[in-house]
Amino acid sequence: MPQQGRCQTDVEIMLKSSFSSNEHIGFDAAGHGKPLVFLHAFPLNRAMWAEQVDEFSSDYYVIAMDARGMGESVAFDAAPAMETIARDLEQLLRYLKIEQPIALCGLSMGGYAAMAFAGLFPEKLCALILADTRPDADSEEARANRATMIEVAKEQGSSAVAEKMMPKLLGDTTRAEKPEVVGLVQNLAAQQKGEGLAQALEALRDRPDSTELLQSLNVPTLVITGEEDSITSPEIMGRMAQSMPRAQHVVIPKAGHLANLEQPREFNWVVREFLEGLKDSG
Ligand code: MLT
Repeated sequence: MPQQGRCQTDVEIMLKSSFSSNEHIGFDAAGHGKPLVFLHAFPLNRAMWAEQVDEFSSDYYVIAMDARGMGESVAFDAAPAMETIARDLEQLLRYLKIEQPIALCGLSMGGYAAMAFAGLFPEKLCALILADTRPDADSEEARANRATMIEVAKEQGSSAVAEKMMPKLLGDTTRAEKPEVVGLVQNLAAQQKGEGLAQALEALRDRPDSTELLQSLNVPTLVITGEEDSITSPEIMGRMAQSMPRAQHVVIPKAGHLANLEQPREFNWVVREFLEGLKDSG
C-alpha cells in the first residue's frame, strides 16, 4: 500500500514542543523489498520521480523525498546546505524504520545531496546512482548567476525561474518533440514557493567540492547523463565516473538534464540493469 506523508525532523519535534508548528519533510514511500531512494532536481519536487516510483515499487521499497524549501518540505531553519538535506534523509530512514543500507539515486541537486549523504553516512549506502550532476563546487561565474536567480525567485517567483532555466533543463529533442514533458516541468516548478527556491539556490551556490570524496568512495556507482545535458555534460560526468573507483557511466540518447523525465523508459532500464547486476555480484 503506497504511503505518503511528512516526517518530522528532530529539530522540529523540539520546536513543536514550544510552538504549534507544522514543519515536516515530504515523502512518498511505496512497494516492498530493498530500499531505493530518489532525490529530486532544482526547481522541482519529488513528483518528478513518479515514473520511477511506479516502475520500481513492484520489487523495491521506493522512497522519494522533497528537499527543504521545496514540495511539501519545511524551509531551511539555518544556512541552507546540502548536508541538511542529507541529514533529513537519514532521519526519514529512521522514521520509516529502514535499517539496511539503501540504494540512493540523486539527479542534479539531488545528486549533490546524495554526495553529502555518502560523505556523512557511507555505511548506510549499498549503491549510488548519480544522474546529471557534477562533483565540483560552483565557479565564480556560476555563483554570480545564482545571485541573479535568487533575485528572480524572490521577486518574480518560481515560474519565472523555470522559464529562465527551461532551455537548460530539457534537451533540444524534448523541447521540440515532447510538449507534455515541457508542460510537466513548468507545472512542477510553478508549484514551488519563490522563497523556498531562493533558499535552495543558496544551498546550490554554497555546496562543497565533492571531487575527493567521490574518488574515495567504495560503493558501486552508476553515473547517468543525458546526451544533450548542457548543465552537467557527458564529458564532465564521464570524467567524474572515471575518477571513482567503482563507477560505470551510461549516456542516455535524446535526453537533456532531466533525463528521467525525458527518456523514462531508458532511464529505468539502465537503473534496473545496474541494480540487478548488484544482486548477481552478491
Ligand atoms: C538542478 O537541476 O538541480 C540544478 O540545475 C543544479 C544546479 O544548478 O547546479
